[in-house]
Amino acid sequence: MAGRGIFAEIMDGDVFKYYVHGQWIKSSSGKACPIMNPTTRKTQFKVQACTQKEVNKVMDIAKTAQKSWAKTPLWKRAELLHKAAAILKQHSAPIAECLVKEIAKPAKDSVTEVIRSGDLVSYCAEEGVRILGEGKFLVSDSFPGNERTKYCLTSKIPLGVVLAIPPFNYPVNLAVSKIAPALIAGNSIVLKPPTQGAVAVLHMVHCFHLAGFPEGLINCVTGKGSEIGDFLTMHPGVNCISFTGGDTGIAISKKAGMIPLQMELGGKDACIVLEDADLDLAAANIVKGGFSYSGQRCTAVKVALVMESIANTLVKKINDRVAKLTVGPPENDSDITPVISESSANYIEGLVMDAKEKGATFCQEYRREGNLIWPLLLDNVRPDMRIAWEEPFGPVLPVIRINSVEEGINHCNASNFGLQGCVFTRDINKAMLVSDAMETGTVQINSAPARGPDHFPFQGLKDSGIGSQGITNSINLMTKVKTTVINLPMPSYTMG
Ligand code: G3P
Repeated sequence: MAGRGIFAEIMDGDVFKYYVHGQWIKSSSGKACPIMNPTTRKTQFKVQACTQKEVNKVMDIAKTAQKSWAKTPLWKRAELLHKAAAILKQHSAPIAECLVKEIAKPAKDSVTEVIRSGDLVSYCAEEGVRILGEGKFLVSDSFPGNERTKYCLTSKIPLGVVLAIPPFNYPVNLAVSKIAPALIAGNSIVLKPPTQGAVAVLHMVHCFHLAGFPEGLINCVTGKGSEIGDFLTMHPGVNCISFTGGDTGIAISKKAGMIPLQMELGGKDACIVLEDADLDLAAANIVKGGFSYSGQRCTAVKVALVMESIANTLVKKINDRVAKLTVGPPENDSDITPVISESSANYIEGLVMDAKEKGATFCQEYRREGNLIWPLLLDNVRPDMRIAWEEPFGPVLPVIRINSVEEGINHCNASNFGLQGCVFTRDINKAMLVSDAMETGTVQINSAPARGPDHFPFQGLKDSGIGSQGITNSINLMTKVKTTVINLPMPSYTMG
């Protein structure tokens, strides 16, 4: 049960506390933010509504804690991360239970998210030791006009305070994918979880607390975006922002100061299916890619671009699989569960109705109860329909029939997004040509888009983001290069 056992101290009455300076405390606002359960559409949990004054204090504390953390030996930082990872995995059940209630993630996927997060933290500790344990040594006489009079030593040093803002769909995993690289690199953390998903995040933070990290190094504030959102992202004490989410990220990037940004802002991930593709493989991946967690993944297949000659066969194969998807509450481990909010369900419905008016073929009847939307495949979608371009973040997948590979590539590249894409073909030469032509951060050949394994680079082009993620790239992004130059006497002086 949430807030029980080892997690009892993170709660006060029926409100979860926030975490600062190694302590769980209540906000002076005396106010709480309700967290809706997407399935029951009733308040499930409450978290503290922190104030701007409290954010100021948290920033000061994080700044001070970072100074001594940066001097803590790398192996000790890694040791603490390994400890946190073990505690996190040990307590996967209660944390997963929060995910089920707060974000309606299917029960098994919720456990997987926590375990994956523990593995990510451990891998990060190991990778950090490797890549931060080495630097560069340069000599001056490789550049024209120079003698060997200078030795240059480079190493990577931390940025300072990292502001981590994960999204609702992977609140734990996308929080640790920011926290762990930041910590191993010697930074401190101010974490602002999404409202839905905040309680799972607070449990995760407690696992780091139990691991024994120094006071003030990791801090987690909760509250309304309207009160503390801009205040956090524009705060002069922040030295790096790592954000995953929607359009808000574009606004953040315009307002943030001259600091490194790591942003992942969604995608309209296209799946191009060529005539020679293994259609069973393509159908399996399109359904898994399009409908896992009810399509609420940045990397979900969001438009299938299928060659006309094979479209009838492929659409039938996809429909056969869609018919097997179970629909219901996350507790039952259903494949399709309620989407995150009523406004999200309304948005999805708006896209569906627009497609209906403009003549898309409905492969299933549209059905919705509350936030629960049954999986829907829309065939014969045309570019004048909103769903051809917009990201539903729900269990609705458009199929656009194309007459040439170029048509598919042009559709993909006309999107403002450029996160991932995929191509299905048995011809590796064609696959490589399509991959080169697609303007996306990653192209998967013969598999659905996906972020993991978590050490792979993960990045978006255009409105899909700034900076590359994945464990190694995140560690590098959360450091800066420091050089020390040793100036030697001129050779003429030493030769006497
Ligand atoms: O932000 C990335 C997330 O939405 C998708 O992650 O692991 O499901 O590909 P994943």
